[in-house]
Amino acid sequence: MKAQLKAILFDLDGVIVDTAKYHYLAWKKLADREGIYFDEKINERLKGVSRMASLEIILERSTRAYSEQEKLEMTEIKNNWYREMIEQLRPDEILPGVIDFLNSLKMNGIKCAICSASKSAAFIIDKLGITQYFDTIVGGQDITKSKPDPEVFLVAAERLNTLPAECVVFEDAYAGIEGAKRAGMKAVGLGDPNILTNADIVCKDMTEITLEKVMKLFQ
Ligand code: BG6
Ligand code: MG
Repeated sequence: MKAQLKAILFDLDGVIVDTAKYHYLAWKKLADREGIYFDEKINERLKGVSRMASLEIILERSTRAYSEQEKLEMTEIKNNWYREMIEQLRPDEILPGVIDFLNSLKMNGIKCAICSASKSAAFIIDKLGITQYFDTIVGGQDITKSKPDPEVFLVAAERLNTLPAECVVFEDAYAGIEGAKRAGMKAVGLGDPNILTNADIVCKDMTEITLEKVMKLFQ
């Protein structure tokens, strides 16, 4: 029997809201304080990457070595600045098309999850006022391996009591789509089709997606 669509698993950053700009500002403040060169191009490499792995990328350009203790302190300082910034997040920062699509999923009984590397995922969803749309939020504290590892998606499928083949992942990053594929799930890419070449379909953003388009992946 063919699998049916039961759940949609959403990446958070770049799919629901653009928190990457706040991560950038907080990392930039830290890099400037340490006298390390950091710009928006390097920041692209931090997307979807864990907090410590992000710091390691920034430290590639440092002229001195840092102890593990120093690195831990630096990630804490950055996270405090980042949390101060996202404390101000408001529902008007939800990306275009998201609310309409979530409403259509609710009306059709499709389960929804957030699958993010961020330990602040639940906090962000709460700030945006959309917690009620999600049956589960899998965040950085629930996983040990980052995308492209499939762990975050498999944890969500288990919590939702669905099979991987019944899930569709929405992602804006190549590594995230790779993780979805390794989990045995279908993937909708949001962004540039020349970059998201591993997705089943690619849309510019959520305004272009409908439940019918997602359903077609199961025909
Ligand atoms: C991802 C971001 O969603 O979460 C990364 O794309 C970030 O840039 C990662 O490093 C971890 O986030 P946090 O909030 O736990 O530091
Ligand atoms: Mg993303």
